[in-house]
Amino acid sequence: MAKYKLSDLTLDEKLHLLSGKDNWSLSDAGGKLPSVFLADGPHGMRIYNKDGSVRPATAMPTLSAIGSTFNRRLAYLSGNTIADECIEEGAGVLLAPGVNTRRSPLNGRNFEYFSEDPFLSGELGASFIEGVQEKGIGTSLKHYCANLREYDRFYQGADIDERALREIYLEAFRGALRSKPWTVMCSFTPINGIYASENRYLLKDILRDEFGFDGVVISDWGAVHNIYKSVKAGLDLTMPYHPDNYKNLKDAYDRGLLRDEEIDFCVQNLLTLCERTENDKKVITTKKEERHENAVAIAKEAAVLLKNEDRILPLTSGRVLISGSFIRRPPTGGGGSSFVETPYVQRPLDALLNEKGGATYEMPIGQPLDSSGRMPIGLRNLYSAAYGKDAVVLCVGEDNKIEGEGFDRTSIRLNPQTEQMILDVARINPNVVVLLYAGSAIDMSAWIDKVKAVLFVGYLGEGVNEALASILSGEVSPSGKLTESFPLCLEDNCAGRELGNGYTEAFREGIFVGYRYYDKFEKEVLFPFGHGLSYAELVYSNLRVEKQSETEYTVTYDIENRSDFDAMEASQVYVSDVFSMVERPPKELKGFSKDLIPAHGKKTVSVTLTPRAFAYYNTSLHAWHIENGIFKIMVGASSRDIRLAADIEINLPDETQYSVYFSH
Ligand code: BGC
Repeated sequence: MAKYKLSDLTLDEKLHLLSGKDNWSLSDAGGKLPSVFLADGPHGMRIYNKDGSVRPATAMPTLSAIGSTFNRRLAYLSGNTIADECIEEGAGVLLAPGVNTRRSPLNGRNFEYFSEDPFLSGELGASFIEGVQEKGIGTSLKHYCANLREYDRFYQGADIDERALREIYLEAFRGALRSKPWTVMCSFTPINGIYASENRYLLKDILRDEFGFDGVVISDWGAVHNIYKSVKAGLDLTMPYHPDNYKNLKDAYDRGLLRDEEIDFCVQNLLTLCERTENDKKVITTKKEERHENAVAIAKEAAVLLKNEDRILPLTSGRVLISGSFIRRPPTGGGGSSFVETPYVQRPLDALLNEKGGATYEMPIGQPLDSSGRMPIGLRNLYSAAYGKDAVVLCVGEDNKIEGEGFDRTSIRLNPQTEQMILDVARINPNVVVLLYAGSAIDMSAWIDKVKAVLFVGYLGEGVNEALASILSGEVSPSGKLTESFPLCLEDNCAGRELGNGYTEAFREGIFVGYRYYDKFEKEVLFPFGHGLSYAELVYSNLRVEKQSETEYTVTYDIENRSDFDAMEASQVYVSDVFSMVERPPKELKGFSKDLIPAHGKKTVSVTLTPRAFAYYNTSLHAWHIENGIFKIMVGASSRDIRLAADIEINLPDETQYSVYFSH
């Protein structure tokens, strides 16, 4: 028996319920309902105090960093940890995670999204949601959909063809919806001419009828332009509160533009949310220190070793110079509503490294980069200290002033002074190691050949320094992999130099986004999707592809560790339709696994391929479709480092013509 019923509410109470009580909570219908409180995420809980300050919380690695772990368990752990803080603070729903498919490295919010690959984003999104909701706290899957540019974000449109919409932009949402988030947040974006908040096709036909979503659709903050149109299209809750919302709804109702059934549909969804938030699962299981430890554990698997010439890393002996203000004040996340104010006091990276023993670390006198990590100060000290050292570690990159909500980057290169500094140090000392902090691709063409190693740090949350100390010292072998291809230059990306135009952006590349694009047009990249080195030597062998049914396969292979380092490895399974009636990407990620391969040990890895792995969206059928024929199954350490491959042939019976298709 439902506890909260439509029949208990007056029309006025219902209309108020559709438009929130304030910035962060739902109306309580005059005390008849609990007032559900919404907290921002996804990189930790963000709640404002009455005076506008933000409550302290654990800063977890960003979703971009969690993506790099390729580890479902860690996505779950992050959600689970944040949920404990939501329970403590009385929040009912965490406004997270975001699963938009990254298209351009310029997007200022790429760090809030897992990947350029929708399968990976959907899988990790699903695990994150599970981690939160297992603790009785709701999630909000966002930003549905195609929120891919911050420039003029309330109005800038996206024109997307049907196949790209399905295969690239909706697919990550479909994947994550498996974990049944209690809410979905619509994006600001007008998609094919209709605002997401008024887009009945997206909100009802696809989200509810096809994907089976049974929760509340919330607007992004300020995404509603005409509330009655939104309610009619299937938007249940307009946020934040504004007195005009009620007035406009009432007016539309009085004029006969809004029917009782349409109002009741949304109100019923909100009543269900109220019931869901009242549960007995809200038990805090972590202490503050454990939450920090969880942040560190995730960070340890998220840093990506891009280059390691002469195996210069780990640094186990000698005198090392380490430089950059990020040593003391590392960026923990990008800017905007996901930024977490952590009370954790960073321990400087050089101090942590010196505690590990082995190499000894010194900092140059003065600090050669200012607090933003960008403007050089006292470079002469840096250059003279670099001379004769066994290695120099340079901490450079971006922060929440360069990457954040409401603005995009205009370049993917480091600023010219930083590039010059790297080159100058590399002239003085041949053993330069760059620690690169950023939330999306960086063009390193100016200096990559001059340095020995690059560790892509990303934004690792408050555990960043501890994680880096473990990796640089060799205690932990890096195991992060890129979830976004790093192009040679911005122009090479599928969206090119496009910066947004305030009207609409045509996604002309269609389904060829990220590695699908670079592969299709045979473009060299700086570092491919899925790339990330290990200290260990990992050998893949013994591929077996076992047929479970005509469209289901178990892919099994061995990974052997021929080194003294215990190592985690993110192995990737790609599928290619060898002969197809339509254009398809040369390969697509359809499975992955993250496994511990102990030093001198071996692990047998198993990945399941479901019918989805072979299907594409057919625009004649308006449905997913599997075409009979040969498919190549490829197992790789990255999208361009395929280690094992085998062919299978799908032969569906005549009764299904030459193929099967399914609607969702
Ligand atoms: C952001 C959302 C966020 C909301 C509430 C919006 O501007 O796009 O991601 O959850 O604000 O802070």
